[in-house]
Amino acid sequence: MNITVIGAGNMGSAFVKQLSRAGHQVTITARDWRKTEAVAAAHPGVKAVSPERAVEHADVVIVATPYDDAVNALRSVGDLKGKVVIDVTNPLTPDYMGLTLGHATSAAEEIAKAVPGADVVKAFNTVFAQVLSAGGDFGDGRKVTVFLAGDSKPGKDQARALAESMGFVTVDAGGLSNARYLEPLAGLNIYLGYGAGLGTHIAPSWMQDARAG
Ligand SMILES: NC(=O)c1ccc[n+]([C@@H]2O[C@H](COP(=O)([O-])OP(=O)(O)OC[C@H]3O[C@@H](n4cnc5c(N)ncnc54)[C@H](OP(=O)(O)O)[C@@H]3O)[C@@H](O)[C@H]2O)c1
Repeated sequence: MNITVIGAGNMGSAFVKQLSRAGHQVTITARDWRKTEAVAAAHPGVKAVSPERAVEHADVVIVATPYDDAVNALRSVGDLKGKVVIDVTNPLTPDYMGLTLGHATSAAEEIAKAVPGADVVKAFNTVFAQVLSAGGDFGDGRKVTVFLAGDSKPGKDQARALAESMGFVTVDAGGLSNARYLEPLAGLNIYLGYGAGLGTHIAPSWMQDARAG
């Protein structure tokens, strides 16, 4: 898959690492050219490009910027019509302990409204960068869950294939409006990691009772 990552921070660099390991063609773009180049240089075959050229060949675009920067970042890469955009953002308050929007909308829905024509899928927002950077399993056979919310089957199929290629397991969490549930779930994960002191090598998953037949 041809994948463009926007953002060279914690999440962007972890995506670049795991996606290039999984054999994808990875392009990265971000605001700071030196950081962008440094992340690309650390992983063989990864290309650092300026925003204008960033999505020319992309099948999937991952927006890994703060939520408040996501729309500007997506607009800076040009035409996203028909492209799958994976939104990993969480609309966090400055202290990371709350959300700036929710209930009646979500970051993913606001991004989808602002970038019409893009096929937006919410995913990876409940996965800490440290977990992503280490890959899709916890090292003991248990796989980390990626929840997928989106309104198109092809978009979710691409996001699922991308997550599975890095070793994650996926849960179809329904339409894009269910990002209203996934973003608070990330908020709980952040509380447990930082507020309750469990650390950042944790991730939520969903279990099914085998006894129910
Ligand atoms: N960190 C986590 O564990 C985690 C987990 C799940 C979801 N998330 C979500 O993932 C997103 C990224 O988090 P992060 O921790 O990776 O943040 P980060 O380390 O601060 O990185 C953000 C990156 O986005 C870049 N950026 C900002 N505005 C941009 C623009 N207009 N165009 C291009 N690049 C732009 C920044 O560039 P500069 O360096 O120039 O500012 C930086 O490279 C956030 O929405 C966060 O809520 C994070």
